Amino acid sequence: MSNVLRLAIVDPSDASRNAIKNMLMGMEVVWLEAECSRYEFFADVVAQTKPDIGVVAIDSNADKALKLMEELRDTAPECNILVISGNSDGQVILRAMRAGAKEFLTQPLRVEDLVAALDRIGAVKFGTGQGGGRSSQVIAIAGTTGGVGTTSVAVNLGCILAQQKQNSVVLLDLDLSLGDADVFLDTIPDYTIVDVAQNIGRLDIQLLKKSLTKHTSGLYLLPRPVQLQDIPLINPEDFIRVLGLFKATFSHLVLDLSKSYSPLDLAALKAAKDVLLVTQLDLPCLRNVVRLLMSMGEIEGLKEKVKIVVNRVGLDAGQISLKRAQETMGKEIFWQLPNDYKTMVEIRNNGVPLIEHSPRAGITQALITLADMLTKDKDDASREQGSTAEKGAGWFKFLGMGKSKSGK
Ligand SMILES: Nc1ncnc2c1ncn2[C@@H]1O[C@H](COP(=O)(O)OP(=O)(O)OP(=O)(O)O)[C@@H](O)[C@H]1O
Ligand SMILES: [Mg+2]
Repeated sequence: MSNVLRLAIVDPSDASRNAIKNMLMGMEVVWLEAECSRYEFFADVVAQTKPDIGVVAIDSNADKALKLMEELRDTAPECNILVISGNSDGQVILRAMRAGAKEFLTQPLRVEDLVAALDRIGAVKFGTGQGGGRSSQVIAIAGTTGGVGTTSVAVNLGCILAQQKQNSVVLLDLDLSLGDADVFLDTIPDYTIVDVAQNIGRLDIQLLKKSLTKHTSGLYLLPRPVQLQDIPLINPEDFIRVLGLFKATFSHLVLDLSKSYSPLDLAALKAAKDVLLVTQLDLPCLRNVVRLLMSMGEIEGLKEKVKIVVNRVGLDAGQISLKRAQETMGKEIFWQLPNDYKTMVEIRNNGVPLIEHSPRAGITQALITLADMLTKDKDDASREQGSTAEKGAGWFKFLGMGKSKSGK
């Protein structure tokens, strides 16, 4: 990520300073510039290192710490002060705010609170509004019926994003009963989403990364639970905390949703910046797109994030045309993925992602462009693809994939 926040910490207590450092270490969005154990030296440290954020743990000596903050307000007004204290008394918070604190976090520190505070500071500093531009990008992949291609899209998009070395990407399999993202990646994970959700209070970023499975593409995977009986152990509150920790750790989160639209799926939809709704060009799918869009319209801000991805275009002559489909759905088609049964079956059976197995195939290229569009927001390219593909031109024709050669 390009917009990294530079931090300096002051905390006379070694134990609490190390705990804060551990939480910060490994976070994508911050760089620890300096640490200091004496309040009286910190103004000099800030003057020399010019950090974006000064983390001041005030509990060792609140009077000294507040005096330091007043000094920094005058000498380093561009340094945002983030106060950490075990005392959440209103008077303490008020004094800290008056001394120039931008954020106040209470001990024990929760990683999601820290991330949210860093996000707010980053949003102001980088002018990204609500922190959206510089924080982790969450992409939810939802489907309109079983077998529509949700996991294929999620896994392959994840691998494509992970291959770019500036990205760190994790895939969360939220199909808690029958998820098969691990099969697509040919891995046998040690830990599952249940382990992470249940230990969220104890995990730091280093430990979290150790509990994930890393694929050769660079993609990290958090799979569904092994036992069906474990599914009720994950509740949406813990899951939101899990997402907070992941957002602090990875530049991109890809969420493969289940088709049950459970409370967990809804939490994922709300957390996402982009929701890819994968459909095919048949009536049951299109009818579900209409229904889902109607339901999503009831949740503030959700429908606007939905991007329709039509999968298996060119499957057979009986498919509804793209134009009719778009009219029926009442929403623009964001992206199309060609039908390529042979390649898709092979990659699934061999547990090798498209980018490794068939980097030049049309389906791979379409997914690479999709990844590019999602990370660079090239809406114009989408419109272009929509219009050219409908006319039978564009890469479908170019790649000779306009018609299916090998139906199901
Ligand atoms: N573009 C494509 N062309 C041909 N076959 C495809 C394409 N995309 C997916 N498939 C095939 O469709 C089948 C279902 O795909 P996948 O498992 O990704 O769907 P899903 O929506 O995740 O299913 P589920 O509802 O079981 O979670 C797989 O056999 C896959 O290989
Ligand atoms: Mg699936």
